[in-house]
Parts: sequence; C-alpha cells; structure tokens
Amino acid sequence: MSGQLSYNTMAQELLEQLPRGAFLSVRAKERINTMTIGWGAIGYFWNLPVLMVAVRYSRYTFDLLKEARDFSVSVPLNADFKKSLAGTGSKSGRDMDKFKVFSLKAEKGKSIESPVIGNCGLVYECRLIFKQTMDPELLAPELRQKFYAQEDYHVMYYGEIVSVYLNSK
Ligand SMILES: Cc1cc2nc3c(=O)[nH]c(=O)nc-3n(C[C@H](O)[C@H](O)[C@H](O)COP(=O)(O)O)c2cc1C
Repeated sequence: MSGQLSYNTMAQELLEQLPRGAFLSVRAKERINTMTIGWGAIGYFWNLPVLMVAVRYSRYTFDLLKEARDFSVSVPLNADFKKSLAGTGSKSGRDMDKFKVFSLKAEKGKSIESPVIGNCGLVYECRLIFKQTMDPELLAPELRQKFYAQEDYHVMYYGEIVSVYLNSK
C-alpha cells in the first residue's frame, strides 16, 4: 500500500473511470454497504478539497447516509472489478451483504469509519460536510424529464477529501 497522494493527482483517472463505475462505501453505526456510482465531481469548496457524489432517495445507501459521518469512493484502475461493479450497481444492500456476494473486501479506512474496497486501485476517503437536495424547478426541463420521471431525485453529498492513496496489490 503506498502513501498519501495530493487530492488532485489522480483526478483524470477518477473522472475517466467514473462513467464505468466506482464503489461508494458507507458505514452507519453497525451497518455497512457499497454501491456503484457513475456520477461525481472533484473540486474545491470552503477552501477544502472536495469530492461530491449523487445518490437517489431510493437507494439503501441513501438511508445509511442519513446517519453516516463519512464515505469512501474506491476507483478500480483495471478491469478486474467489472462484474462486481455491475452487481453492486443492480442489487441492493437491503437484500444482501454485497461485500460477501460480490467477493469484495471491506477494508478499514485510514481516516474514516466507512470501509474502502480492498485491492481496488485508487481510494478517496471523505468526511461528509454538506448535503444538498435538488429543487426540480431549477433543473433544465429536458434533464428533469430524462432522469426523474419517477421523481426519484438525487441528493448531492459533499465530502472533504481527507485521504487519497493507492491500495492495489
Ligand atoms: C455504472 C453505474 C453507475 C451508477 N451510478 C449511480 C449514481 O451515481 N447514483 C445513484 O444513486 N445510483 C447509481 N447507480 C445505481 C445504484 O448503484 C444501484 O441502484 C444500487 O443497486 C444501489 O444499491 P443500494 O440499494 O445497496 O444502495 C449506478 C449503477 C451503475 C451500474
């Protein structure tokens, strides 16, 4: 396992992998879960390095994020995780232990309570500092129609990036 990276060193790798999927992992007290995310942003807010992720109301992860203090985003840097990303992106942690079912190692975070995916590649550990609900009235009508016909809106979660490192074998 290598040392700390600066928050934006691997931003290009993150942004290129995101549409193919990364793991968002969360702990809420005794409960842990991971789900696939495809949307996100890395940037600078409140003089802090920040990673923002978007989670719909219907996700089990949304329930955990009500109680969680932090989250991790584990970004695969090779194709090994293709199948598990499809699994964690279609099955719900309400119904199963996705770590077990998809053979993912829930590794202890360095600086947060939430787990990270073992031997995944690139890891961002984030402290939850802001949540933002969407006001549908403010969204471009074509996007509202395309993505929210069921009114299952995203909540945006802003995490201060407290640790970035590579955890591949
Ligand atoms: C490639 C890919 C990207 C996804 N991106 C997101 C996302 O950014 N936000 C979201 O809420 N759901 C996203 N999903 C869907 C969730 O991963 C999926 O609904 C998952 O089963 C939720 O798990 P949970 O109920 O255990 O939280 C994505 C799915 C895939 C396959």
